[in-house]
Amino acid sequence: MSIIIKKTDDIRPSEITSKSVYLQRREFIKKMGLTATALLGGAHLSLAEAKAYPELVKSKFSTADKLTSLNDVTGYNNFYEFGTGKYDPAKHAKSFNPKPWSIAVEGEVEKPGVFDLEDFIKPYALEERIYRFRCVEGWSMVIPWVGFPLADMIKRFKPTSKAKYVEFVTLYDKEKMPGQAIKVLPWPYTEGLRMDEAMNPLTLMAVGLYGDELPNQNGAPVRLVVPWKYGFKNIKSIVKIRFTETEPVSTWHKIGASEYGFYANVNPQVDHPRWSQKTERRIGEPFWSPKIKTQMFNGYAEQVAHLYTGMDLEKLF
Ligand code: MTE
Repeated sequence: MSIIIKKTDDIRPSEITSKSVYLQRREFIKKMGLTATALLGGAHLSLAEAKAYPELVKSKFSTADKLTSLNDVTGYNNFYEFGTGKYDPAKHAKSFNPKPWSIAVEGEVEKPGVFDLEDFIKPYALEERIYRFRCVEGWSMVIPWVGFPLADMIKRFKPTSKAKYVEFVTLYDKEKMPGQAIKVLPWPYTEGLRMDEAMNPLTLMAVGLYGDELPNQNGAPVRLVVPWKYGFKNIKSIVKIRFTETEPVSTWHKIGASEYGFYANVNPQVDHPRWSQKTERRIGEPFWSPKIKTQMFNGYAEQVAHLYTGMDLEKLF
């Protein structure tokens, strides 16, 4: 077989793939789960092109831990808006359509507003950041996120001197998120960070994972990722970001203040009232593998321990 490489000006307009055909192919490939190269031949469309974010800046904050498979990252989730079981979100979030999407920025900022997602994320260079992710329930994963530092976004909206905290709110829409019809949590899901935590370079606004758009079950189209905190701080499908003078009350804290503190820092020395936090089970590893020792601040102490100097972490857990 001979492969003829054509100069661009040798290619007739009829040979150029239109955007709509390209997008249809992309959808098709995704559905079929085939590699683009196998299906169409590398000359027209490579697998890298089929991903939403083929070119990403690699972050210096990435861990070298073995990645959790895409199957596990997208198949074993907590997202109560789509059911309380671990396999519910993958099943029930399938028909959720996160487009169009807008985000309101309000409270103690000089430049509040409501923004389309595209305008909201346009100014930032997206990075790939491989972070450890530790759930308060004792399991963990290693996830290659796509995102940008929350700090960059905060600077753009110019918080006033009164802004001491940032509150995040998930979409509240029972039609789109059927789990909200049941009062298992006080909806909408809400979370918060202290301003210095929000400004820490590790804190990420994620818009994707594994080089592609954020799957619905992982919090499409935009979520928070704070790798030194327990998973529940990582609020999904954000529609509102509010700067406040007082500490926001987060959802899990509201329903169980003695079990879920505002800070929620990963800390093997402070047990959950009902179980130990000393070890964790890495999702995807064989069930006979020994449990992993949980690290202080999930292994990110060097970057964040200074934020908590002088605080009693047994009380402010
Ligand atoms: N955000 C919303 N809106 N609703 C939720 O139920 N669950 C939290 C967090 N963010 C949750 C949420 C919990 S408990 C965890 S452990 C993580 O999302 C899970 O993220 P993942 O499914 O992408 O692993």
